[in-house]
Amino acid sequence: MSPVRSAFVAGNWKMNGALAGNVALLEKLRAGLPEREALEVAVFPPFPYLDQIARLLSGSTIGLGAQDVSRHAVGAYTGEVSAGMLREFGCRYALAGHSERRRFHLESDQLVAEKFGAAQAVGMTPILCLGETLEERQADATLDVVFRQLDAALALHGVAAFAHAVLAYEPVWAIGTGLSASPEAAQAVHRALRQRVAKDDLAVAADLRIVYGGSVKADNAAALFAQPDIDGTLVGGAALDADAFLAICRAVNG
Ligand code: PGA
Repeated sequence: MSPVRSAFVAGNWKMNGALAGNVALLEKLRAGLPEREALEVAVFPPFPYLDQIARLLSGSTIGLGAQDVSRHAVGAYTGEVSAGMLREFGCRYALAGHSERRRFHLESDQLVAEKFGAAQAVGMTPILCLGETLEERQADATLDVVFRQLDAALALHGVAAFAHAVLAYEPVWAIGTGLSASPEAAQAVHRALRQRVAKDDLAVAADLRIVYGGSVKADNAAALFAQPDIDGTLVGGAALDADAFLAICRAVNG
């Protein structure tokens, strides 16, 4: 974690949640969130719960985000949800290109880059998710893959767009498997990503938050956050358990 960038801890609920359980989870989060300067926390529930969660978060510093966003603003796109709608329901953030979207919905780098832009166009902060599969890692292609994913958004929107964005490095083999990347391995990718952005703009790169995701738990969070280019985390499984999520938040700044 760097002293110049505020930490970001995001809880991606994926396709989990229920009206009654959401109330209990949010009550615990609100009561237990550590008072830390420079700590930004957000939850990403499924679309149908956004309104409920927005109300439950009223007056809290916890932000609200969407797990996905359409590249289109309006029209005949059955099943899609636009950035404008998400904004209206209080979303400050939107994930773009989570590996489960890339894998199960065949989202291309180009489509993900367009979603990134759609979120930004209405004032939301896009969280661009990047990461290699196990086969790609074994083939030593990690940086090729994450650079290709990053470059699609850089090419479409320019480096200035990254002044209002977050990168999430999430190796696919580490998501939901209990096999987190080692802090050193994650740091190497984060540093390479920052250097890539720095080639276009040093100041944007210095301020850009790059969070790590993939089996982050209370017991490995602090070691990850100790790395200079790891600015927080995108949490999946542990985001569904208030105690586990709060422990990860507390691991920020020791
Ligand atoms: P995990 O998921 O924490 O359950 O590995 C992370 C993610 O998919 O964002």
